[in-house]
Amino acid sequence: MNITNQFPMPFTWGVATSAFQIEGASSTDGKGPSIWDTFCSQPGNIKDHSDGTVACDHYHRYREDVGLIAALGVDAYRFSIAWPRVQPDGKGAWNEAGFDFYDRLLTELAARGVKAHVTLYHWDLPQALQDDGGWLNRDTCHRFADYAREVARRFGNRVEAIATHNEPWCSANLGYGNAQFAPGVADPRQAIQVSHHLLLSHGLAMSAMRAQDPGARLGIVLNQWTADPATDSDADRAMAELEYARSVQWFMDPIFKGHYPALALRAHGADAPVIQAGDMEVICQPIDFLGCNYYFRSWCSAATPPVPPPARDGVTDMGWEIYPQGLRELLLKLKGEYDLPPIYITENGMASADLVQDERVADARRIAYVQAHLAALLDAMQQGVDVQGYFLWSLLDNFEWNSGYAKRFGIIHVDYATQRRTLKDSAIWYRNFINQRAGREAA
Ligand code: FCB
Repeated sequence: MNITNQFPMPFTWGVATSAFQIEGASSTDGKGPSIWDTFCSQPGNIKDHSDGTVACDHYHRYREDVGLIAALGVDAYRFSIAWPRVQPDGKGAWNEAGFDFYDRLLTELAARGVKAHVTLYHWDLPQALQDDGGWLNRDTCHRFADYAREVARRFGNRVEAIATHNEPWCSANLGYGNAQFAPGVADPRQAIQVSHHLLLSHGLAMSAMRAQDPGARLGIVLNQWTADPATDSDADRAMAELEYARSVQWFMDPIFKGHYPALALRAHGADAPVIQAGDMEVICQPIDFLGCNYYFRSWCSAATPPVPPPARDGVTDMGWEIYPQGLRELLLKLKGEYDLPPIYITENGMASADLVQDERVADARRIAYVQAHLAALLDAMQQGVDVQGYFLWSLLDNFEWNSGYAKRFGIIHVDYATQRRTLKDSAIWYRNFINQRAGREAA
């Protein structure tokens, strides 16, 4: 089925990556260590004991990679800037060699006619700031605003969009709540305070960038899901409602309504964050776009053992339920609850155990996954949700955080021993899909 032309024109088709997951060159040209460098060096944190020292070596191969991006025919590329590459200590001196890398990358993208969607923080905090308390220290919010201002000053007029944070829910809850991610703290109370600081830093960065470059398109990227009760029981429904409040509304309400959701605040009790006068006003300011990352829904069962979700479309290599209709449900729910700016689906995709055989990677399940999610997305758009773009996660197989290199999300396969890139069937499908757009037949 060709649904390409049912999407409005213009619609931004893209692919996404993040700095730590692909760049490598973790101490090259003056880059400082990030909390992920540290976290990887601590035994037991990464399942395959790997790290980001080389990753996809994108730092050295960016030209080849932009060539691949351009050959896909996408409109845009979403990537992140490694803060410790451009400011090794997270405060003080800028590292010109680090900025030069992003300057070269932007030049290359522009030469190929690919728009840049930049994320400022995709989890790689400068370790020096962690040594001062990281996101638990309110001062980090001001350091982040300084960094954001500098990026806007240098690159504001060369990029299509700038997102402050990627998935602050993960930074707070996986970084500070259960120690699955850097910096590896397991203290739910700290996680809640950190989430407030991440939101505050978003607001401060928004103000700083707006003052610097009033024309820049600014927003934030959140990971979002619907929370479905396993059964109709009061316990399951209450669990789902609370889960939705603690994850989606916890970040959306402050940004769009200027307060935390009452249900979640009550549940946090004495662990509720310390909020200073004026914080909520800083957080609640207009954003030009909302980035939504969608992978799965949250399934809520209060029973012991929990009632599993019905086996419908199966699970990915991450063990994540494949539930495309959740994307439609989520977007319609958000539209009902908030006065939304244009939305970009900034991440969507799946991991599978892909192998190169005879120069080919047959990943039919990924193609089906993307097709099903695009159909759900289109459905939501036809019901009035203003979505302006879709970014497939990911351009390349890459370092999948605490799973290391074992989980492959790319539409392009990476052989880590040789750094050889091989287009998977999904990349060829995506290229053909995008190029079926009206007027693009010749592409
Ligand atoms: C998201 C992250 C991204 C990637 C995908 C699979 O949570 O933003 O970096 O790891 O999951």
